[in-house]
Amino acid sequence: MQPARTDSRRPDPAPVASGYSLIVRDLHVHLRSRHGTVHAVNGISFAVKPGEILGIVGESGSGKSVAMLAVMGFFDREAARLISGSVTVGGTEWRELAAPDPWSSRSPELAIIFQDAVSSLNPVLTVGSQMTDTLMARQPKSGGGMPRPAARRRAAELLDLVRIPDAARCLDLYPHQLSGGMCQRVMIAMAISADPSVLIADEPTTALDVTVQSQILDVLLEIRQRTGMSIVMISHDFGVIARVADRVQVMYAGRIVERGGVDDIFSRPQHPYTRALLACSPRIDRGEQASQIIPGAPPDMRLAFAGCPFAARCAEVMGVCRRDEPALRPVGSGAVLERYAASCWLPRIADAGNGDGR
Ligand SMILES: Nc1ncnc2c1ncn2[C@@H]1O[C@H](COP(=O)(O)OP(=O)(O)O)[C@@H](O)[C@H]1O
Ligand SMILES: [Mg+2]
Repeated sequence: MQPARTDSRRPDPAPVASGYSLIVRDLHVHLRSRHGTVHAVNGISFAVKPGEILGIVGESGSGKSVAMLAVMGFFDREAARLISGSVTVGGTEWRELAAPDPWSSRSPELAIIFQDAVSSLNPVLTVGSQMTDTLMARQPKSGGGMPRPAARRRAAELLDLVRIPDAARCLDLYPHQLSGGMCQRVMIAMAISADPSVLIADEPTTALDVTVQSQILDVLLEIRQRTGMSIVMISHDFGVIARVADRVQVMYAGRIVERGGVDDIFSRPQHPYTRALLACSPRIDRGEQASQIIPGAPPDMRLAFAGCPFAARCAEVMGVCRRDEPALRPVGSGAVLERYAASCWLPRIADAGNGDGR
């Protein structure tokens, strides 16, 4: 799927600096499916600083999960028709992104949690056995796998860290004896047990009710505070992102269309897609419940199209948008990687990007 023409003036600056816990450069992931090749991720670059929470937001199908699964190293050549770019983590740059074995994680520096914690746990083993097995098998950065008694003590400490009351008792329970929120706490405890430098949280609160959702977000904030871990928080919900993220990047059609500090994105969104997504987000503080949706549908990621992928749904569309795809260009000032950036031909964005050399 190659757009006819793209904006070559100022492409998305690939991260070059060190001092980041995770750097992703020009990631492309095209997946095989029964109905053709899905161009799920199309050249995204970003970096996360130590202790930072980067929010990634976008409608369902925008490529958030596929991008993060590729970063983790979960796609092999069978699944991915094309997987390219590089991932730098723990001082190593991985250029061969296809996994040798499916579901073999790239690096102990990376950990991931998913939406469905209940089914991620093994139903026939107690929480304690699952956690101690993990701790005994893994090679934490601080030294090799642990003997069982030490692993059990560590498991209880980890459950304490995620604020599970009566951690010792929880170790002897089976997953079905725990609520969804408790299961997610256990998954977080297991994910951070090898002391990763980056935790990827893919919609970790989507299956939970609002009160529990808020508690889980508090747990993640506290873990960041206590361990200095970076967190990549993925959500379709701007409310979740606003609550925890330091910076936000907005994804659409497998691309980053806007990114910036959380305050900039919420108070001065530039890209029409970000504006539309924010307009559809329920404001919990105003008691709003149901969210509306953005009219139209995202492009079919199996088909080629020219121009901006949002053009067909954009209220401010211009002629150029249907011909040429805009690159992600800096808006305003700041260090390259943290700089406010958006990919849009609208003069308010294109002019700001042109004015400020890198
Ligand atoms: N295993 C897969 N095989 C083929 N296509 C997939 C697979 N997983 C996701 N996709 C497709 O890739 C695109 C991006 O999906 P995904 O990353 O899951 O979106 P998001 O997490 O943003 O909701 C979608 O078009 C989806 O249908
Ligand atoms: Mg997803």
